Amino acid sequence: MIKQLSMAVVLLGATGFAGQAISADVVSLRGVTDLDQESTAPELKHYQKDGEPITRDYVQQPPLIPHKIDGYWINHKSNKCLTCHSWANYKQAGATKISQTHFEDRDKHVLANVSARRYFCTQCHVPQVEAPPLVENTFKPITAISGK
Ligand code: HEC
Ligand code: HEC
Repeated sequence: MIKQLSMAVVLLGATGFAGQAISADVVSLRGVTDLDQESTAPELKHYQKDGEPITRDYVQQPPLIPHKIDGYWINHKSNKCLTCHSWANYKQAGATKISQTHFEDRDKHVLANVSARRYFCTQCHVPQVEAPPLVENTFKPITAISGK
């Protein structure tokens, strides 16, 4: 019993120490507001309006979404994106059709419909806002794509 107790004290001491080390380096997105206080949420940015396709920065990049997606629900019953981007609808919508890779399961079997791995479009494709970058980034596209 005594042995177990002292074990618990050691563990508590260790987690307490780790907690302090983390809070010194990482600033939470909710700022330095105490846990029992409400922090003021930053104002939401507006998504970019509908525009031309955005140039890709690397091979195999999921293209960025050049339009708003407010109200475009994706759930087990329906997928709003596919009403414009499916092979059946893309022509009428004037949208890009999803590529063949979206029909493959993980064993590379080609399916007759969108693969479950590609069903939740916004897992990979994201809309854009006009905002300064949160972190400085010096990434440069490879010449095969940028031509420079
Ligand atoms: C009302 C029709 C419509 C709906 C719904 C829609 N899109 Fe689009 N989408 C378009 C059109 C039109 C374009 C632009 C095509 C062009 O100008 O070449 C586009 C462009 C895109 C592109 C850029 C393709 C490229 O090659 O750069 C992506 C990615 C995309 N949409 C993803 C989505 C996702 C994800 C959803 C659902 C959250 C969605 N779209 C819903 C019509 C739609
Ligand atoms: C697991 C990540 C992933 C998911 C989920 C996904 N995509 Fe993609 N998508 C990609 C990648 C990577 C590319 C670029 C390479 C390629 O064509 O496969 C792409 C390409 C595209 C393109 C451009 C095709 C072209 O010919 O240039 C469109 C349009 C698109 N996706 C729409 C969608 C829609 C709509 C959904 C949901 C039904 C979706 N994607 C789900 C990763 C994904």
